[in-house]
This record gives sequence, C-alpha cells and structure tokens, in this order.
Amino acid sequence: MPASLGSMANRGKVTVVGAGFYGSTTAQRLAEYDIFETVVLTDILEGKPEGLALDINQSRPIEGFETKVVGVGGGSYDGTENSDVVVITAGLPRKPGMSRMDLLETNAKIVRAVAENVARTSPDAVIVVVSNPLDEMTALAQLASGFPRERVLGQAGMLDTARFIDNVAAAAGVPVGSVACLTLGSHGDTMVPVPSRCTVDGKPLTDVLDAATIDELVRRTRNGGAEVVALLKTGSAYYAPSAAAARMVRAIGTDAGEELPVCAWVDGEYGISGVYLGVVAEVGAGGVRRVVEVPLTDSEVADLRAAAEAVRAKQADIADL
Ligand code: LAC
Repeated sequence: MPASLGSMANRGKVTVVGAGFYGSTTAQRLAEYDIFETVVLTDILEGKPEGLALDINQSRPIEGFETKVVGVGGGSYDGTENSDVVVITAGLPRKPGMSRMDLLETNAKIVRAVAENVARTSPDAVIVVVSNPLDEMTALAQLASGFPRERVLGQAGMLDTARFIDNVAAAAGVPVGSVACLTLGSHGDTMVPVPSRCTVDGKPLTDVLDAATIDELVRRTRNGGAEVVALLKTGSAYYAPSAAAARMVRAIGTDAGEELPVCAWVDGEYGISGVYLGVVAEVGAGGVRRVVEVPLTDSEVADLRAAAEAVRAKQADIADL
C-alpha cells in the first residue's frame, strides 16, 4: 500500500452533493485518502457525476487507493442512504464583483431542499456545508434538516486560515510549514483573521513583519475568495476550499477530535450565543464535540462579537427563505 491513511481505515460512506469543481475535487481528495469504503458524488445533472466518478475510479491503479467513487445524477439520492458524512456543495458560485451574500436567495432554496433530502435519506449523518453565503447556509441546513446543531458544521475557517498562512509565508519569505495562523468570524466581510495567534517559526508575527504589512495581509486574507474569482472570471476557488472540506470530513470520519477552525454553533463562548460562527472546535465522529475558546486580544474579541451580530441578523432571515 502506498503511504496513505489506510491504517486509519474507517470504511464509512461519504456523500458529496454537487459535482461542480468544488464537489468533484472534494470527492477526489476524499477518495485519495483511502479511508472510506465509498464516496458518492451527486448532482442534478445526469451523467456528470457518473462520468467524474468513473474518471476518478480509473485513477485508482495509478494513485494506489481503493475507495470507490459512485456517481448519482438526476438529483437522485439513491445510493446515498445512511451516509456517515454529507458535504453540501450545491448552489451557485460567485461571479466577479459579486459578494457571497448576493447568492443568498438562490442558494437558500437549493440548500434547503438538499438538507431536507439528507435528513430523509441519511438521518444520522454529520453535514458539512460549503455553499455560500457560508454562515447563513450552515444555519439553514441545520434548520431544514432538523439535525442537532453539533451534527451540522460549515467549512470556511480552515480555508481562510490557509489563505492567511499562504499570504504570511509569501510576505515573510518562509515555507508555509513555518507559519501558524488562525482566522475566525464569518466567511464574509466580518471575517476575523487573528494576528495574535499567528507565528513564524514560533515567533510572534509582530516580531517578523511590520504593522502595515500585517494589516495588508489581513485585508488580502479577507478578500481571498474574491481575489481568485476576479482572476478566474467564471466560478470561484476550489483547490484550497476542497482541501479544507476534505480535511474536516477526515477528522469526522476518523473521529480525530482535532481542533479545527470551522463554522459551528456558538453557545456562550466569547460571550456569544445562539449563532453559527467561525470558531475553533474539536471535531470528531459526531461532528462538533465542543467549541474551544482560544486566547484573543480585546480588539479581536470585539471583532468576533461584531461578526456574530452581523451573521445573526442574516441568520434570522433565513427561516423565511
Ligand atoms: C471562497 C469561496 C469558496 O472563499 O467561498 O473561495
């Protein structure tokens, strides 16, 4: 067996809803981990998920993994039943100049229908939402599925943290492996990159870069998704997003109990309650085991509370969408 995670084999089933670039690259990464029995890739389009599944399966002899990818088209949920984890990527991506919030109404209809179908067909699954606007779609998926809040979480913090790390590594001229960072808050305008939790070779970021440079890196991180959208012109990012989503699924599938930045239900931490927000959480087989309160500066806590209020207002509206 090639170097893989096969020894951590869990042999469960993961469904990825939506066979666009985000969904198909997530399915590919999950299959290449070689820890699941089956990865089901679904789409409303007929033939696309089946074709992508066939293509990924034919890479198995070369890449050396056994996980079988099954494509299900036509909006069917046949074959997805009793998935351990369901990743919802369904919905439209941004176009240049659009904010994630511009997708709210269109994607709400799609995510609501998907979450209802997931609740019917995989009632014990953990749902990982990646559709945008992320914090609102995560809250909606919980509402529409009726699942306990710990079994519905969203992907954003890992992606935004990875972007922050990549930006810092480039500015400091060091390998990405030398940098540790954290990004909290919303996956939108109130994103909270956290410089106080950022180190380069173990040294505080402020010892390595000047304040103006750090401010610029924070700004670029907040704008990270839009920067890619503007370059691509059609569609949004998917390599880093799918890497982030797949790592969350891996933590769930292997019951790792890893502390990861994710969109989770916050109930008292940082003095914030009753909202889905980007925080650090311990992630395992049942989804979020607990939200981990990390030390922040006063101004970072204030930014996180402001983010909570911004997304709370939007999350209150989603019940009607
Ligand atoms: C991004 C999208 C996937 O940030 O939200 O690239």
